[in-house]
Amino acid sequence: MSFMLDEIHAQPDVVSKLAGEDREAAAALAAEIEARDIDLILMAARGTSDHAAIYGKYLLEINNGLPVALADCSVFTLYDSRLKLGKALVIGISQSGEATDVAEYLEKSKEMGALTVSVTNEPGSRLTQVADHTLLCHAGKELGVAATKTYTSTLAVLYLLSASLSGDKSRIERLTVCADAMRSTLAIEEQIKGRAERFRYMQDGYVISRGFNYCTALETSLKLAETCYVGMLGYSAADFLHGPIAAVHENEACFLCAPPGRAYGGVKEMAVKLHERGAETIIISSEDDILQLATTPVKMPVCVEEELSPLLYIMPGQLLAYYLALTKGYDPDRPRGLNKVTLTM
Ligand code: F6R
Repeated sequence: MSFMLDEIHAQPDVVSKLAGEDREAAAALAAEIEARDIDLILMAARGTSDHAAIYGKYLLEINNGLPVALADCSVFTLYDSRLKLGKALVIGISQSGEATDVAEYLEKSKEMGALTVSVTNEPGSRLTQVADHTLLCHAGKELGVAATKTYTSTLAVLYLLSASLSGDKSRIERLTVCADAMRSTLAIEEQIKGRAERFRYMQDGYVISRGFNYCTALETSLKLAETCYVGMLGYSAADFLHGPIAAVHENEACFLCAPPGRAYGGVKEMAVKLHERGAETIIISSEDDILQLATTPVKMPVCVEEELSPLLYIMPGQLLAYYLALTKGYDPDRPRGLNKVTLTM
């Protein structure tokens, strides 16, 4: 079996283990956030980790009332600026723990008074040495270049932090339920494998969702770009209406991730609009009324509450990235010109 497929399959166990593992670390951080009266969070990350940060932004803003902004590392690394960070928490996310600019962002923000935390899969990595706190992903070594289990475990770590901050133990328990739902979601593998051939000649396309699953749109498009060399763009359904929809041409592949929840209605409206434009709509959902609008429906076998749905809804995209790469004769474990660790400043 390939590393990537192995790692996709490992995700339910990784999340289930995590639900029981790092509660103390998340609880200690939550206590310090409260003690220091933190009122702003900045998250620094790249690539897949940046998409996890976007999930964290929705979670911590919606459930914890803490404003969260995505950090631009270059403000410190290229422009040597200073920020007032005395009441800020800065979260640096890097699966490898070696992201140079993220580490520097943590170092500088600590000097400027921020409380800092690293979220990483690598104990002892550079990020853990720089930050005041560390939350580990406990995903085991990831050998596939395309991040899969480190992505969902990072989502789970951010969920644990949000749950600890809200002090609601039942939310932590729901992560275990979510891990079971991820296991059931693996049943879509045959469906996805069977559909991969249809996309063999796809050159470009869009992945659209909204709210908690905006990260899913971005991450699905990244997986398809890096393993299948397809020019995919991920969008929020709201942003897509502000211009990009004009570029959609007949038969263009538009993937829509539509779990039930508050964002569902907007994604369904988008499905109608794309249908009118003659696009090929590949709709991933547990809900039959939106699946009826699809050219290619992908039925999700289970559903969880919207805030946990990104852990499930990324799985069809990961599996398609794997099987489409094989269909096109590419090695999904070794995307051309990419390394596991990319260093940027
Ligand atoms: C994509 C992927 C990359 C990494 C990025 C950040 O599948 O793996 O986008 O997420 O290079 O790496 P870390 O998180 O190790 O800093």
